[in-house]
Amino acid sequence: MVNPFRPISISLSPNVQSDDVKLAFSLLFQRVRPSENSEGLTLQTEFAKYLGAKHAYAFNSGRSALMAILAAMELENGSEVLLQAFTCNAAVNPIRWAGLEPVFVDCDQNYNLSAEDLKKKITEKSRVVMVQHTFGLPADMDEIVEICRRNNLILIEDCAHSLGAEYCGRKVGTFGQAAFFSFGRDKMISCVYGGIAVTNDERLGQKIAAYQEKIGYPTKDWTRQQLWHPVLMDKIILPSYSILGKHLLVLFQWFHVLSKAIHWKEKRGLAPDYFPKRLPDKLAVLALNQFKKLEKFNEHRRKIAELYYNKLKGGDCILPARPSGRKAVYLRFAIRRDCAAKMIKKAWRKNLLLGDWYRTPVDPFDTLPETMGYKKGSCPNAEAFAGKIINLPTHINIGESEARKILTFIKQCK
Ligand SMILES: Cc1ncc(COP(=O)(O)O)c(C=O)c1O
Repeated sequence: MVNPFRPISISLSPNVQSDDVKLAFSLLFQRVRPSENSEGLTLQTEFAKYLGAKHAYAFNSGRSALMAILAAMELENGSEVLLQAFTCNAAVNPIRWAGLEPVFVDCDQNYNLSAEDLKKKITEKSRVVMVQHTFGLPADMDEIVEICRRNNLILIEDCAHSLGAEYCGRKVGTFGQAAFFSFGRDKMISCVYGGIAVTNDERLGQKIAAYQEKIGYPTKDWTRQQLWHPVLMDKIILPSYSILGKHLLVLFQWFHVLSKAIHWKEKRGLAPDYFPKRLPDKLAVLALNQFKKLEKFNEHRRKIAELYYNKLKGGDCILPARPSGRKAVYLRFAIRRDCAAKMIKKAWRKNLLLGDWYRTPVDPFDTLPETMGYKKGSCPNAEAFAGKIINLPTHINIGESEARKILTFIKQCK
């Protein structure tokens, strides 16, 4: 029977299934010796094998993984890192925390780094290009790799959205000197907070390993917060969401029973004390359980994306392009339409929780742009898209009937 209070939601534990909930609950009451790291090591080995990378190092977030990569590169203070606007402050802050300067490049029509604008933004101080495969749509890697090669720039791939995506038959995360992935709550696979850094470079690998060893683990309380997330979401918050659950979520976060995806400090450019840290073993167990299901998840995402394509084409929404040779994984199915914000609000009132990544060039919307180094007017596409973007869910808990409800809403909403 359909529960009328349970939302159709893009967020709020999107990938979690009953086995993940049971696992998280059992982990809450299991003892693990602090020195134990067997699950973390297994995750690293399995991940490296999957990607065909030589080294993988697990951290408590993509943010920590990026911090490790940048520290291992030992770049001169003030060196410039080129990255696209239309991103999250979580991609920008680690650059600033490393003493480096983010330089924003505009995005192309598919929300990825524009190779044209990249060429214009390279300066004497440029050292790194960070390419983001936004929403799981692979960026134009031939062009970007060539620009990096010609300008002697290091390439880092931000694969927070794109685990499993391919470009010309090759997995994203294998094109640069290093890459990182996220296992955050809204990502391709989730352990609420988690991430991994990968590289084929022996020396860089050794330095990332040393960094990982040095930073240690987050506190047990912090880990417990993450383990409660799937349990409370599934059993209490989501089943009563439209009446009680949404208020409970705020209360649980207020009293630190649950964590927030982004700490308020990050919106002001500051680092919370749980970054950078390694991935606790208990979260590695959750990540491994999700990792086993990755192919199934991605197949599902593609099927739902295909349904959206077929039903929305020819209408008044701008759909993602599908360049040949790119296998997308559609973390979110992004469309553009006038009055997007109004439409998302209307949908929320109907308990359809659609997404708004990214409402501002450096999201979330209440991030202080001056602390990110973003200059208004520097990335016109990103600014224009931010006003029109709507994300539709593709995750495993969105069946065809939920997707059709969303489609009906979009078609009827004027
Ligand atoms: C584009 C992008 N890069 C990097 C990150 C950082 O990943 P994490 O949340 O695991 O720190 C995120 C997630 O918030 C992201 O959306």
